[in-house]
Amino acid sequence: MVEFTLPKNSKIQKGKKFPAQDAKNVKTFNIYRWNPDDGANPSMDAFEIDLDKCGPMVLDALIKIKNEVDTTLTFRRSCREGICGSCAMNIDGTNTLACLKPIADVKGEVNINPLPHMPVIKDLVPDLSQAYAQYRSVEPWLQSDSPPPPDAERRQSKEERAVLDGMWECILCFCCTTSCPSYWWNGDRYLGPATLMAAYRWIADSRDERTGERLDALQDPFKLYRCHTIMNCTQTCPKGLNPGKAIAEIKTKILERQG
Ligand code: SF4
Ligand code: SF4
Ligand code: FES
Repeated sequence: MVEFTLPKNSKIQKGKKFPAQDAKNVKTFNIYRWNPDDGANPSMDAFEIDLDKCGPMVLDALIKIKNEVDTTLTFRRSCREGICGSCAMNIDGTNTLACLKPIADVKGEVNINPLPHMPVIKDLVPDLSQAYAQYRSVEPWLQSDSPPPPDAERRQSKEERAVLDGMWECILCFCCTTSCPSYWWNGDRYLGPATLMAAYRWIADSRDERTGERLDALQDPFKLYRCHTIMNCTQTCPKGLNPGKAIAEIKTKILERQG
C-alpha cells in the first residue's frame, strides 16, 4: 500500500463538522476542501454518514454528501464502474477510484484527498492539464505509411494482439502517475507511468510503423530515465495494470536498438 501523510507544517486545518441525524450505523468521511474563490486555506471537513442509507462505495458516500448535505462539495465522476477514470482520488492513503473502493474496506474514518502533487482546481478536483499535454506529446494513435487493405481493417495475429493486453485497459486515471515520487519531483519533464505506458502501447503494436521515431523521442534523461523502478505506480493501479513493466520494456527496446 502506498501511504501519504500530511507534512507537519501543513496548512490544512480542521474544517466544519456535519453530524448525522438519528443514525445508528455512522461512518465519518474527512474530506479535503479548498475553494479558490474564498481566500481561505485548505481544510478537512468531517461528514458523518448513515451507512444504512448509503450505497457501498466511497463514490456513493460522496454523491450522498453532495446531494443531501453540502452541494458545494466538488469532485469528478461519470461512469461509476471503473471505466471513465474521472473519480481518481486519494482514499485512506492510496490513490484509487472512488467508485471501485468499498467503504467497508476502510477501517475507522475515511480520509479523502485529491490526487497528490497536482495543482488543485477545487476540493477533490486536480488540474490534469500537464498530464494530458504529456499524453498528447507521445502521439497515442496508430501511425502507418502503408495503406490499409481495401475494404478491411489492419489485421493482427492473436499473438500480436495479445502483446497489447495489460495496456489497452488503461483508463488514464493518473493514479499511477500521481503516486510516483519521480513524477512528484520532476513532473514538468518526466512523462510519468501512465503516459509512458501509453507510449509503449503503440511501440508494441505490430501495425504501427513509427517504432523507431517513438523510441528516439523517449530517449531522454528526463522523459523516460527519471523512472527508478520504485513501482508505486504498479502497486496503486486500480485496474491491476503494470506501468512499471511497460517502462522497463521501453528501456530494453532502446538498449536492443543500440546493439
Ligand atoms: S516504477 Fe518508475 S514510474 Fe513507477 S513509481 Fe517507480 S519511478 Fe515512478
Ligand atoms: S496504468 Fe492504471 S493507474 Fe495508471 S492511468 Fe492507467 S489505469 Fe490509471
Ligand atoms: S466514476 Fe468512472 S471510474 Fe469512477
